[in-house]
Amino acid sequence: RSIGFIFDLDGVIVDTAKYHYLAWKKLANELGFEFTHQQNELFKGVSRKRCLEILLDIGNINATQEQFDAWMVDKNEDYLAYIENMNASEILPDVPRVLDFLKDRQIPIALGSASKNARPILEKVGLLSYFDTIVDGNNVTKAKPDPEVFLIAARSLGVNPSDCVVFEDALAGIQAANAAGMISIGIGDAKILSEANYNFADFTEMDTEFLQTLVTYEV
Ligand code: G6P
Ligand code: MG
Repeated sequence: RSIGFIFDLDGVIVDTAKYHYLAWKKLANELGFEFTHQQNELFKGVSRKRCLEILLDIGNINATQEQFDAWMVDKNEDYLAYIENMNASEILPDVPRVLDFLKDRQIPIALGSASKNARPILEKVGLLSYFDTIVDGNNVTKAKPDPEVFLIAARSLGVNPSDCVVFEDALAGIQAANAAGMISIGIGDAKILSEANYNFADFTEMDTEFLQTLVTYEV
């Protein structure tokens, strides 16, 4: 029996939410309305297409299919410009410590993200080589809270879903992990992520003893 670890990207490994926010805000402003940080919370873990639908709802805007597709492209181009210069300094605290802990024990590691930009981001921050498999917005048809992304990751790692541990910062992601029958670990606000099996504010709170219990199935 072997265990596998699956990391979400945005909000777990790097804080890209601020860049997504800037790009969505720019589009909203161009369309003549405001977009707040609070509204941006609803976008975490949500696909680009669904985010635009929600944004247009907020602005009370009816779009033709053509406009919708053009705004999807505009938003992503702006986002790509914001993340252009990302580097290792933007890795969230203690992520490398946890990745090294797993690598040292030859435990398979997957990425399970809704983002279509996952690979270039991991490359920019220098973490790509840690991942045995990357499952992202290019590989899935059903968005979190559907378990598809994590089930594909487990299969690709060759690990049973019930032997996978998932790190997630979004409620939809915790629900997806639970639906996949995996061990769900919330990284962030425990109130928002109360459906998780375990909660940590961030990885600095997760000590070696806990990691050890995870990899030895004592949880
Ligand atoms: C992650 C983020 C979401 C984002 C989604 C799609 O799940 O938390 O805020 O909308 O990825 O990202 P993309 O890079 O494909 O636009
Ligand atoms: Mg996330």
